[in-house]
Amino acid sequence: MYENPRLVLDSSNPPEPGSIVWRSPSNIAIVKYWGKYGLQLPRNPSLSLTLASSFTDTQLEYEFRDEAHSKSVDLDFFFHQETNEAFQAKTAAFLESLFPVFPFLKQLKLTIRTGNSFPHSAGIASSASGMSALALCLCSLEDSLFGTLQDPAEFDRKASFIARLGSGSACRSIFPHAAVWGRTQAVSGSSDEYAVPVGEQFHDVFRDLHDDILIVSSDEKAVSSRDGHALMDGNPFAEPRYAQARQRLSTLYDAMRSGDLDTFGKIAEDEALTLHALMMCSNPSYMLMRPDSVAIMEKVREYRAATGHPVYFTLDAGPNVHLLYPGNIIHEVRAFIEDALKKHCENGYVQEDWVGEGPEEM
Ligand code: PMV
Repeated sequence: MYENPRLVLDSSNPPEPGSIVWRSPSNIAIVKYWGKYGLQLPRNPSLSLTLASSFTDTQLEYEFRDEAHSKSVDLDFFFHQETNEAFQAKTAAFLESLFPVFPFLKQLKLTIRTGNSFPHSAGIASSASGMSALALCLCSLEDSLFGTLQDPAEFDRKASFIARLGSGSACRSIFPHAAVWGRTQAVSGSSDEYAVPVGEQFHDVFRDLHDDILIVSSDEKAVSSRDGHALMDGNPFAEPRYAQARQRLSTLYDAMRSGDLDTFGKIAEDEALTLHALMMCSNPSYMLMRPDSVAIMEKVREYRAATGHPVYFTLDAGPNVHLLYPGNIIHEVRAFIEDALKKHCENGYVQEDWVGEGPEEM
C-alpha cells in the first residue's frame, strides 16, 4: 500500500547525519484482536485505550552510506544501553522487510537505542510500545529526508500502518486516548491496514480512566501471541467469535460515546474471559491465566457488588490483570489493591497506568 521506489537519496547531495527520538505508549484492548490472516490483517475489529506510563523510548541515528543496492540493513542496536542479539536480528529483519516502503534505509547506517519505562522482566508486553516507537521514528526519518509526510493525519496513518506490520496491536498505540483497528461499520474510515483515532468522540469519563496492571507472573508465556493467533485458524468457535467481536465493538463504541461505564465494563470483562476461553479450546489447548489471576478477577467482582464502585478487569494474552476504573475513585481502589490484591502479585508489583495522550516526539 505504501511502496514507493522514489524515496531514494541523491548520492551527489547526501543528507547530514541526524537523530530522531520518539516515546510511544503501550495500549490495552477492550475488544480484543485475536486471529489474523495475510500480512498481519485482523480477523475482527478491535478497540483499545492508549496508555501513558508504560512506554518505549526509541532513538534512531542515521548517517549516509552509498549502498543503494544492498540487500541488508546496516544496523547497530542497543536495548537499555546493551547489545541484544535477538532484538537486533528481529529489528534488522523487520527493517529489511520495509525496503519497498522506505528504500532509503539501504543507503543509511542506522543506530537504534531503545528502552522501556517498565522493568524488562515485568511480563508487560512491549511489542505495542516498541513497534509503534520504531514506526514513528521511520516516518519522521522519511519526512525529514523527503518532506513527504507533512500532513499530520497522513503521518499518523502511515506510522500506524508500519507499526501494524511489526506487531498488529502496535498500530493502535499511535493515537491519543483510544483507537479502533479493523474495518467496522460502526466507525467511518476504519481499516484493516491501520488504526484510526476515536478518543475525541468518547465521553470524558474515558479520558480519566486508570489501568493498574497487577503483575501476577513475569515468566515468559508458554505460547506466544503469534502462535495463539495461528491456533485460531483451527478453532471451531472462530467464526462465531469474529461475529461476536464485531457486535461487541459496535455496542462498546456507542457506550463509550454516551458515557455508559457499566456496558463498557461488562464488555471489557466478557472480552478478557472470551480471549482466554479461546485459548482453552484451541488445539492444542493451553491456559495463560494463573490461579492468582482468577482470584483477583473474583475479588474484583465481589468488591464491585459490595461497594457499587465501577472497577472492572481485563487481561492481555497473559496472566496479568488490568484493573480499569475512573479517576474519581482512585483512593478507594488503591486501598483495595493494597489490602486485597497485592498479595496475588509477583513481589507485590503493580504498574500504575492510565489513559494517555499518545506518542511524543522528544
Ligand atoms: O499484537 P499481537 O500480535 O501481539 O497480538 C495482541 C493480541 C492481544 O493483546 C491479546 C489483544 C489485542 O487486541 O491487543
